[in-house]
Amino acid sequence: MNKIIKEIENTKIIPVVTVQNVTQGLHIMDALAEGGLPAAEITFRTEAAAEAIRAMCRKYPDALIGAGTIINVRQAEEAAAAGAKFLVSPGYSDEVVNYCIERNIAVLPGCMTPTDILRALAAGLSMVKFFPAEPAGGLRLLKALSEPFPKLRFMPTGGISKDNLMEYLNFSKVVACGGSWITKPAKENDFAAVRQEAENAVKLVCRWKEQG
Ligand code: 3PG
Repeated sequence: MNKIIKEIENTKIIPVVTVQNVTQGLHIMDALAEGGLPAAEITFRTEAAAEAIRAMCRKYPDALIGAGTIINVRQAEEAAAAGAKFLVSPGYSDEVVNYCIERNIAVLPGCMTPTDILRALAAGLSMVKFFPAEPAGGLRLLKALSEPFPKLRFMPTGGISKDNLMEYLNFSKVVACGGSWITKPAKENDFAAVRQEAENAVKLVCRWKEQG
């Protein structure tokens, strides 16, 4: 679990991907890998999610491929069986978190309030998803939430783009950011644009790391 959290921290950006079918999923993963960002959170918002994760993991066994929008244990089981290395939920689900902890699977439940965070801390988690980041109040809310919980770290997602990414990364409690801006062009099957967005994102992260 900690190894995967470290990988997420090192990658800094987790592209959120909703796939229509397995072939499209593989094209997206090809584009991300070619762009230097072999990481993806495949949302369980379409029927194709589990099969796409399975195919992507087969083709890219070393890539950081996880599952998102996991809202119950049935989906958590499907995602884990398909090879997802981490699971993300939009909100805090005790059953999903407990399922993952018992199996040593990295899990990032969505937290937006102090009460959500108290539940995450009680479960022993050290990192959660801050969702939906921008609509909920953005960095201002995240900084206020961090005050009483200085040890907790976050992956903000929801409304993150290349325009505000750096501001989030500059906050020390942010481990990585999630977002769909990189893979949006895949809706029009423009995989060259996905690759370009991935390259741009990697450049931003390199610049951020150099600034130290
Ligand atoms: C998610 O599933 O985490 C969000 O829908 C991604 O948010 P974004 O589309 O605003 O990046």
